[in-house]
Amino acid sequence: MSNNLKVLKFPDPRLRKVADPVTKFDKSLENLANDMLEVMYREDGIGLAATQVNKHVRLIVIDISEDRNKPQFFVNPEFEILNTDSSYTFEEGCLSVPGFNEEITRPDNIILKWQDLKGKSHTDRPSGLLTVCIQHEIDHLEGKLMVDYVSSIKRDRIKKKLSKK
Ligand code: NI
Repeated sequence: MSNNLKVLKFPDPRLRKVADPVTKFDKSLENLANDMLEVMYREDGIGLAATQVNKHVRLIVIDISEDRNKPQFFVNPEFEILNTDSSYTFEEGCLSVPGFNEEITRPDNIILKWQDLKGKSHTDRPSGLLTVCIQHEIDHLEGKLMVDYVSSIKRDRIKKKLSKK
């Protein structure tokens, strides 16, 4: 392990912090992005938000490629729902909620805006797994977790199990 970032686990209250916008597109942002990528690959995740490693800035790394060599970086990402009638249900997992998978329904017709590590702005309409993944990660930046989508009974059960670890 070449960096000391650790993934916070639910119910750690630090996962509830709302992340600040990134304003400096410098070397330290690039270093954090690369460290996060390393953690994500090590833990076999497909996405990681800075919040999860206790860095409260609006930065997300994602790699949904099969060969795990197409990292994508999203700085200050935000999305707009184009059509609420269209949704997609996917069994999501989360490195901060290890051992649990939950079916979550999210809008799948969205327009995504973000900046890259150099500060350049991008707009795109994501498709497939990226649509789900980016919404899951943006939730993290807002202090929201996938457990917030399940019943409170189920959430308490997950909390109990993870607190024992
Ligand atoms: Ni997650």
